Amino acid sequence: MKASEIAGGPQRGEILCRLSDIKDGQAKEFSYRSGDEMRNIFIQRLGMQAFAYENNCPHAYLPLNMKAGIFTEKSGKYFICQNHGALFDIKSGQCLGGPCSGQSLTAIEIDLKDGNIIAR
Ligand code: FES
Repeated sequence: MKASEIAGGPQRGEILCRLSDIKDGQAKEFSYRSGDEMRNIFIQRLGMQAFAYENNCPHAYLPLNMKAGIFTEKSGKYFICQNHGALFDIKSGQCLGGPCSGQSLTAIEIDLKDGNIIAR
C-alpha cells in the first residue's frame, strides 16, 4: 500500500484515517512535505489502539520498514528496524535492543475518537 499524502502535514484535529482502515497488526503510512524535506509517518494498529511515529530510526535515520505497512517482527510484539535489527516497544517507541538502545522513535500525537484517528 502506497503512503497517503497529507498536504502541509498533520493539522491538529485533522482526521488522518479510520482505525478500521488499518489491518490489525499493520500500519498505514503517510508522507508530507515540511519545508524542503519529505517527512514520513506511520500509524500502527494494535487491536483497538493505534500508535503513530515518524518513520525514521534513531540509529542511522533510515526508514524502519522495507515492506509497505509492515513494521513489526514476526511475533507482532515489537517494531523492528529492517536495517540493523533494532527492536522498539510499540506503545512507547523506546528502543529495547540494538544499535540505538535507550533511544526512542519520535512519536506523533494522535487521538482515537469514534473510530477516527485524529492528529492532536
Ligand atoms: S538504521 Fe535502524 S537499526 Fe540501524
